[in-house]
Parts: sequence; structure tokens; C-alpha cells
Amino acid sequence: AVNMKGKSILSLMDNTPEEIRYLLDIAKQVKAESRAGIRHQRFVGKTLALIFEKRSTRTRLAFETAFAEEGGHPIFLSIQDIQLGAKESVEDTARVLGRMVDAIEFRGFKQETVEILAKYSGVPVYNGLTDLFHPTQVLADLQTVEEEFGRLKGIKMVFMGDGRNNMANSLMVGAAKMGMHYVICSPESLRPEKWLVDECLKFAQESGAKIEFTDNPEEAVKGADVIYTDVWASMGEEDKAAERRKLLQPYQVNEELMKKTGKPETIFMHCLPAVKGEEVTFEVIEGKQSRVWDEAENRKHTIKAIMIATLL
Ligand code: CP
Ligand code: NVA
Repeated sequence: AVNMKGKSILSLMDNTPEEIRYLLDIAKQVKAESRAGIRHQRFVGKTLALIFEKRSTRTRLAFETAFAEEGGHPIFLSIQDIQLGAKESVEDTARVLGRMVDAIEFRGFKQETVEILAKYSGVPVYNGLTDLFHPTQVLADLQTVEEEFGRLKGIKMVFMGDGRNNMANSLMVGAAKMGMHYVICSPESLRPEKWLVDECLKFAQESGAKIEFTDNPEEAVKGADVIYTDVWASMGEEDKAAERRKLLQPYQVNEELMKKTGKPETIFMHCLPAVKGEEVTFEVIEGKQSRVWDEAENRKHTIKAIMIATLL
């Protein structure tokens, strides 16, 4: 049996497919209970520190509401409020937090920071997005795909655009672990780093996943079940926006591209927030194939699931 008590969720790289399956199963149950209006009080007396170096709507709300409605006390800490990084090292902040709270969520720039928090705090740490990974988003996305198609294995997901950002990377990890067919369609200059691709190819060998890279949108989307995209310039890359608009225009998800899958049942996904008219057209994100609001809702169910799995 799977036991994740005390574990952190840092990248999904060190989680087994069985653990990911376990989290998705809890998330499914949590969602059904939420739909039925069934409430529990599973986090009574517990506290969760939420550290944000970057803005957030979904991630913050998912953690705060999921934890609070079960009786837990979430504590939001922007880096304007705490000593982290300014007057105190990450290691020391981690050790103090570990003495006071039951778990820590961190969103920020460096993956290294979330790793140090986990190493020095001794409590479960959840990565709420770094430059490299966005694992809790991927769990919500996997739940959304499974709701739509009833399975993950063999599902073809094509990621269009900035193939080197946290979402492209993290979806690659999730897809590789869960036996999906994952294609990154981007300019060659925007593919994931080689070390990460090599790791994912190893996971793929075990799960039967297929990982591919191409710069040809028409070829990429043939037979796709899911077309996924994300902003062309991520938080912290605002200076690259103009250059990216030029470079990534051919990778925009529009109705013409959606048709090229050859499947009417293809769905469109985006972690949000989106820039409508850039990486995706208004028609597609607002259209019948879009599942973006289900993805957003599933953030809360999957985040509640990781806290149930690691705290109880
Ligand atoms: N998808 C996502 O992480 O959204 P927020 O930036 O609003 O948290
Ligand atoms: N790639 C985006 C994801 C936002 C949820 C960013 O890092 O800004």
C-alpha cells in the first residue's frame, strides 16, 4: 500500500506512478464529496505556511480554501512580510517554520529554494510553482484528462509554445510517469534542458510513455487528445515578451490548429492565467473544447488530496 505521510511534493520526479495514482484517487473522492456537499474536519488544529515570492490566484486560493474548510489554519506570507531571503537565509527560515507549522507551500523563483525548505524544515513542503516545475498544477491537469477520457495511458497531449517553461517541464514529468504520449511543439531553442529530458526518458521506459519534440505544429497535433498551452513569457520573464511574441506566433493555438488534430473530441487545456489573442485565441479558450475552468477547479481537489495524503 502507498503511504505518503510526511512526504513533500517538489517536482513529482521522486514520486512513483503508484503515488501519483494514489493522489488522483483521493482527489476524485474529495471532488465527489465536495459535489455532494459532504464536509470533513480533517485538518483541525493544523497550520500551513504559504510563502509567495510571485503572484497567484488559483494556487493560493486552492491551498487556503482546501485547508481552512477542513478546520486548518493557513498563514499567507508574502516575501514583503517575512525575513526570508532578505535578513535570513532559506535554511534558517526553514528550521523556524518547521518548529511551528505542520506544512509549507512555496511559490517562487528558484527550485533550489523549495528543495532547501524541504531539507531543513522537516515537514512536508509543497512546490506551488518555481521556474523549473509546477507539480500541483500537473496533478489537476491529470485529473482533468482522466475525467475526460477515463484514462491517462496512451493519451496524446501536445504542449504548444514555450517548451522550456515550468509547465512544459512538469507536464513532461507527469506524462512520463503515467504512460502518456507527450509532445512538445516549440522552436528548437525552447526545449527542456537535456538533463530533465534524460530523466523523463528513463521514467518513460518504465511506464511505456512516449516523449517527442518537434517544431512543426501541423505534424505535432495529428491525433492529439489534448492540446495544452501556457503564456509565452512566464512570471519574471516580462522583458522577453516582445521577442517571444515574434518567435512563438506560429505556435498559437487557434481553431485552425484544433481542427488539424483530426479528432472532434480533442480538448484544449491551459493552466491559466492566459493572454487571449497570444498563445490561444479567444474562440478556442472560450469554445466548446476548452476545459480550463475544470482544470482550475481541480487545483483545489488535488491540493486537498496532497495534504490529506501527506499530513494524516
Ligand atoms: N495556474 C496557476 O498556478 O495559477 P495562479 O498563478 O493563479 O496560482
Ligand atoms: N508559466 C507560467 C505559469 C503560471 C501558472 C509562469 O510561470 O508564469
